[in-house]
Amino acid sequence: MIRTRVLLVDRDEPETDHRDEAAAVLRRGGLVAFATETVYGLGAVATDAQAVRGIFAAKGRPSRNPLIVHVANADQAREYAARWDGRAEMLARAFWPGPLTLIVPRTPAIPEIVTAGGPTVGLRVPAPTVARRLIERVGLPLAAPSANRSNRVSPTRAEHVLADLDGRVDLILDSGPASVGLESTVLDLASDPPRVLRPGPITASELASLLGVEVGHGPVEADPTTLASPGMLAVHYAPRTRAVRVPSRVLLPELDWPERAGLIAFEPLPLGLVPDRVARFILPDPTVAAREFYRALHDLDARGLDVIVAVEPPAEPAWDALRDRLRRATTPGV
Ligand code: TXA
Ligand code: MG
Repeated sequence: MIRTRVLLVDRDEPETDHRDEAAAVLRRGGLVAFATETVYGLGAVATDAQAVRGIFAAKGRPSRNPLIVHVANADQAREYAARWDGRAEMLARAFWPGPLTLIVPRTPAIPEIVTAGGPTVGLRVPAPTVARRLIERVGLPLAAPSANRSNRVSPTRAEHVLADLDGRVDLILDSGPASVGLESTVLDLASDPPRVLRPGPITASELASLLGVEVGHGPVEADPTTLASPGMLAVHYAPRTRAVRVPSRVLLPELDWPERAGLIAFEPLPLGLVPDRVARFILPDPTVAAREFYRALHDLDARGLDVIVAVEPPAEPAWDALRDRLRRATTPGV
């Protein structure tokens, strides 16, 4: 058990002394949680295998699940990529800083523990000033998975990190809620054609139209011994409360609602569709829904409900990332 410190940080003009304190913790091998635009990350110096081991221990994360490496800019990304081709360059120019992780062959400077022994590394430049100034100050890339216990709901606020990891992380930089709210799109550039391993805020069609090629989906083949991208695991990001999903709101009146229940839906609901006592989050706009989805799950999960019911979002590309996370957080309910 270590003592977790929380520092409030101005997201526009980050205090230099807070940044310096965080950089010092990282340089001596400690763990610092910081906001990215997607979710809070649990950071350690990526080139320090011992420090990275601390991430796996704090999260209770299986060692075969590789970590994303956060860099300050595309120049720094190139230093850790054994191959950086025209596609990588084009994507970095178009979408960085931003919620896109590029999987490329790694250099030996990235220890095996970061990549779960694999030959590739996931690189991204996070958008927030706080994150990029921190990486610059440390002078080394930061390995950072989402700052939650393994298989729990991802954190979009510092209080979510504290609730899950108090005593397991040295420092939390609290710069307010994450602005995007769902994890980055993971694009495998080591395969041809490139493949989206995890759908995210940047859609497959945006990537395809920039690259001028079709983009595949999912890992190349299901290998039972290593997980090509364990974010693909069926149940992941799940609340502790029993959580079920239904494909359409028309099924809601058929459910046998327990006394204490919660609901998440992505379209307005006609009056009387569910009992009044049901706590609810209605999020009809895809951008707002992405930002608020994990907060809604954290909020409902903390109430000790008997069940959380979610209605699947509309079958449109704008909802792909959210539908993916929803399916991992819930089991079919009807
Ligand atoms: O938005 C995000 O990506 C956040 C913030 C903190 O940057 N990070 C995040 O990390 O979601 P994590 O560890 O929760 O998820 C990383 C995902 C996993 O699905 C992992 O399997 C995949 O990226 N991944 C990382 N490196 C990979 C690699 N070399 N090959 C294939 N998949 C990789
Ligand atoms: Mg995660």
